[in-house]
Amino acid sequence: MGAPAARALGGRVMPAPVSMGHGVLRAPDALHFGEGARVSIAPAVEKFGRRLGVIVDAFFLDSPEFLEVLKSLDDRGIEYRTFSDVVPELPLDSVEIAAARFSGLEPDALLAYGGGSAIDLAKLVALRLVTSEPLAEFYGENRVGRTVLPLIAVPTTAGTGSEVTSVAVVSDPSHALKVGISDPVLIPRVAIVDPELTLGAPPSITAYSGIDALAHAIESHTARDMRLDWSKTLPVATGANRLNSGFALGAIGALGASLVDAYRDGGDRAARRNNAYGATLAGIAFSNAGVHLGHAVQYPLGALTKTPHGMGTGLLLPYVMRACMPWRVERLAEVGTALVPAMTGTAEERAEAAISRVAGITRAIGLPRSLREMGVAKSQLDEIVEKSLGIARLIGNAPFEANTEIVGEIVRNAYVGGAP
Ligand SMILES: NC(=O)c1ccc[n+]([C@@H]2O[C@H](COP(=O)([O-])OP(=O)(O)OC[C@H]3O[C@@H](n4cnc5c(N)ncnc54)[C@H](O)[C@@H]3O)[C@@H](O)[C@H]2O)c1
Ligand SMILES: [Fe+2]
Repeated sequence: MGAPAARALGGRVMPAPVSMGHGVLRAPDALHFGEGARVSIAPAVEKFGRRLGVIVDAFFLDSPEFLEVLKSLDDRGIEYRTFSDVVPELPLDSVEIAAARFSGLEPDALLAYGGGSAIDLAKLVALRLVTSEPLAEFYGENRVGRTVLPLIAVPTTAGTGSEVTSVAVVSDPSHALKVGISDPVLIPRVAIVDPELTLGAPPSITAYSGIDALAHAIESHTARDMRLDWSKTLPVATGANRLNSGFALGAIGALGASLVDAYRDGGDRAARRNNAYGATLAGIAFSNAGVHLGHAVQYPLGALTKTPHGMGTGLLLPYVMRACMPWRVERLAEVGTALVPAMTGTAEERAEAAISRVAGITRAIGLPRSLREMGVAKSQLDEIVEKSLGIARLIGNAPFEANTEIVGEIVRNAYVGGAP
C-alpha cells in the first residue's frame, strides 16, 4: 500500500498501514459444494439426531429436488415438520410463528432450504428455540452468548452467503432500519451448496443476489486494518485479514467471470456453479472481515425505496471503490487482477480498471444507473448520508475515517450516475 500513491490520488493522507498480518476464520464445521451435493442433507441431519425442523421457501415446497430430500429423510426414519411461510426481508414476528410450528417436536436440528430469507429465519428460530428472552436483547454483535440449535443451511440463491455467515438480518417494526444479530454461534454447522438449486432463479434475483456477493467480497477485501486483542472476545467483523482476503479474491474471480453469463442464460451450468461458489466464498470473507460503506448506505436507501438489498449495494459498489482509492490502491489493483488475471499495468491502472469493470458488470446485469433512476429524490440525499453514518459497525469498518463529506460524495455521485 503506497502512501505516495495515495497522496497522488486524492491528497488524502493515508494512516500508517497495519499489514495484513493476522487472520480470523470462523466457518461451518462442514461445507459441501457441488452439483448434487443436496443428497448429503439427510446424512448430515442424522449426525445431530432424529427430529428435524425444516424451514423451506414456499417456492420449493413441491419441487422434485426438495421432495427427494424429504424422501431421503423418511428413508432414514428422521421425523420432521416443515414450515414454508418464509416472508422476504424477515419480519420479526415470523420468527415466533415459525418457532411455534416446531413446538412439541423438540427438534435436534434445523434445516434451512431457500434464499437468505429462509436461512436467516432458521438462524433466529435456532436461537428462539433455546431461549425465551426477546430477540431484541441480542441485536448487535456478540450478544447471543449461548449455543443455539445446530443448523444445516442449503442456499437456493447465489448471493447472501448466509449459509456460512454469523449474521441474521431482521425487520423489527419498532426500528426504522433493519437490524442484525451477529454472533459466530449463529454460523450454520453444515452448509450444503448445490448450484443446481439456483438454476431456476430468474434474471432479477440472479442479478441482485450475485452483485451483492461481489460487494461482500470487494468490501471485505478493502475493509479497515485492525489490531486485534487476542486475549479478549474477538469482534465479529475483524477487518480485512489474511485468511479472508484469499476467499474474497477467489469470490471476485468466480463472480467476475460468471455473473453476467448467469444473468443472460440462467441455464448456463458453469456460470451457475461459479456464482454459487463465489457467493459462498464471499460469505466467508465478509462474515469474518465485515463489509463497510456500500452496506451502510444501503440500510437507509433500502428502507426509503423498498428496493432489493443487492440493487443498492451493487449500484453503490463502484462509487465506494472510488472513495477507497486513496487508501486502497494495492487492494483494488488485486481486485482488478482477480477480475482479469491477464491484467497488466501499474497498481493505479489496475485499480482504475477494476472500478470500470465492476461498473460494467452492474450495467450488464440491468441495475439502475443512478440513485435518481432508483427513485431517490435529491431532497432525500442528506437523510441517507446522516442515517448511514449512524450505522457505526459498518461505517467503522471502512478503510478510512468516514465522515459526512466522503459518504456525501459517494451518495451524490451515485445519485447523478455516470462514470464512478
Ligand atoms: N445473513 C446474511 O449473511 C445475509 C447477508 C445478506 C443479506 N441477507 C438477507 O437475506 C435476504 C435476501 O435473501 P436472498 O437475496 O437470497 O433472497 P430471498 O431469500 O429473500 O428470496 C427472494 C425471492 O427469490 C425466490 N427464490 C429463492 N431461490 C430461488 C430459486 N432458486 N429460483 C426461483 N426463485 C427463488 C424466493 O422465493 C423469494 O421470492 C434479506 O432479508 C437480506 O437482509 C442476509
Ligand atoms: Fe449484502
